[in-house]
Amino acid sequence: MTFRKITAAEAASLIKDGDTIGLSGFTPAGTPKSIPAEIAKVAVAEHEAGRPFKINIMTGASTGQSCDGDLSNAQAINFRAPYTTNADFRKHVNNNELAYSDLNLSNIATQLRQGYLGKVDWAIIEACEVELVGNKVHIYLTAAGGISPTVCRLAQKGILIELNAFHSKNCMGLHDVYEIEDHPYRKPIMIMKASDRIGKPYVEVDADRIMGIVECNIPDEARAFKDADPITTQIGQNVADFLVANMRNGKIPPTFLNLQSGVGSGANAVLGALGQCPEVPNFNIYTEVLQDAPVQLMREGRVLSASTCSLTVTNECLQGIYDDMSFFKDKLVLRPSEISNCPEVIARIGVCSLNTAIEADIYGHVNSTKICGTKMMNGIGGSADFTNNAYLSIFTCGSTTKGDAISSIVPFCSHVDHTSHFIDAIITEYGVADLRGKSSMQKAEEVIKVAHPDYRPLLRDYLKYAEKFKGHTHHCLSAAFAMHDTFLRKGDMRLTDLAEYIK
Ligand code: COA
Repeated sequence: MTFRKITAAEAASLIKDGDTIGLSGFTPAGTPKSIPAEIAKVAVAEHEAGRPFKINIMTGASTGQSCDGDLSNAQAINFRAPYTTNADFRKHVNNNELAYSDLNLSNIATQLRQGYLGKVDWAIIEACEVELVGNKVHIYLTAAGGISPTVCRLAQKGILIELNAFHSKNCMGLHDVYEIEDHPYRKPIMIMKASDRIGKPYVEVDADRIMGIVECNIPDEARAFKDADPITTQIGQNVADFLVANMRNGKIPPTFLNLQSGVGSGANAVLGALGQCPEVPNFNIYTEVLQDAPVQLMREGRVLSASTCSLTVTNECLQGIYDDMSFFKDKLVLRPSEISNCPEVIARIGVCSLNTAIEADIYGHVNSTKICGTKMMNGIGGSADFTNNAYLSIFTCGSTTKGDAISSIVPFCSHVDHTSHFIDAIITEYGVADLRGKSSMQKAEEVIKVAHPDYRPLLRDYLKYAEKFKGHTHHCLSAAFAMHDTFLRKGDMRLTDLAEYIK
């Protein structure tokens, strides 16, 4: 038997209106690129011919321009889950042009198996190599694990492979592919430390389910990171100081914890700063996205090993890993998202989670997803998977954004993704709000200390007004969103006049 080689356009022509496609990848890393871009062209042609064409897309996490960008611009998406970061897609979602379900990333493969997200018609998988072994095919994934094993198994119409020569065949050693059993037969996941391997280095499928192989050579659609700036560097320093103090006073073990770090420029800079802190011992990483900074820390010996779902790194960094696999092979492991983000493993091995907040409120709740409560930014990603199960859960953010016109510390989050029950500390460039062992009102005092100085009097005034309403947690509901409302009306939270809102 030989593989049927087809073009991306031929592959795209197999996808029909109403189909659900499940993609490999996690972030733009490892996501197929040539077939989704051709599906967008099919959609445009169908719409011009007056015919409907919309599909449903399931992924491990976000994708790149050729998927979420091109397909949303082509009005080709009916339903999308679970996470995206694409600016074009964001515009269409916030215009209510398509249905977007923002979900915890640990749960997607399970929800697909449970049928909660409907059937999967096609799996479209980026590979660096495919091998025919008897009547089976071994698919070697590229820069991410994602939901590939699950969508390959569930795809009713078949599997399409993008064999992307951009990814070196050295990828073949990176993955540990393991799929969790269905309930009630689910077994413990035998990962005891970040570098443990419990599965196979490939996804195995029956050969007759491969409907075609598209050869291409396309770089990952990696996003560049903003350079660390004085604020992110100071936040990183504050995180490092906090962790060192916790080691000294015995609140975290002297062996340290596995670190998880969130997505984005802020998280990249924080991890970079942590690596520079001599008092932080060499550490292991158990995370879902590995960005450039920790890869450099691995080379320096500061990071001993890393378990991740994806290499969300610049293409230069990615090629550096592929070129140096003899160094990385026993230190770096890529897993499917239901394993990288598995609550059971995270809770057991001891993880310090470091995620970025859009805003936090004085009582310690965090908004990770919605600007002013309504506009979707990206999605919750794996932040709750880690925050809710971590030994120590930290959120970081700059105290302000948009030239100080927005305070990241507010009286009441305009949307809540993470409740204060799960959050141990909120860290800005002004210091650490340590929320452990504190009541709501004690938390409020602590959080206001790390707000930008321009906003501290406003937040204290709010508390003073709110006190009149009594209760366990003081709030004046008519003024709780005064800062957001003022920003929306006047473009600057500093212009908030609380008296206008007190009723
Ligand atoms: N109000 C309005 N806009 C805000 C804001 C707020 N309170 N806080 C941040 N923003 C804007 C910033 O101004 C920036 O806008 P720009 O792109 O126009 O410059 C944008 O949001 C991104 O903020 P930035 O400071 O550059 O942060 P980042 O790149 O570190 O990303 C998150 C921050 C929260 C968007 C990102 O971490 C995320 O999507 N988190 C949710 C998913 C997650 O946590 N996954 C974790 C496991 S990997």
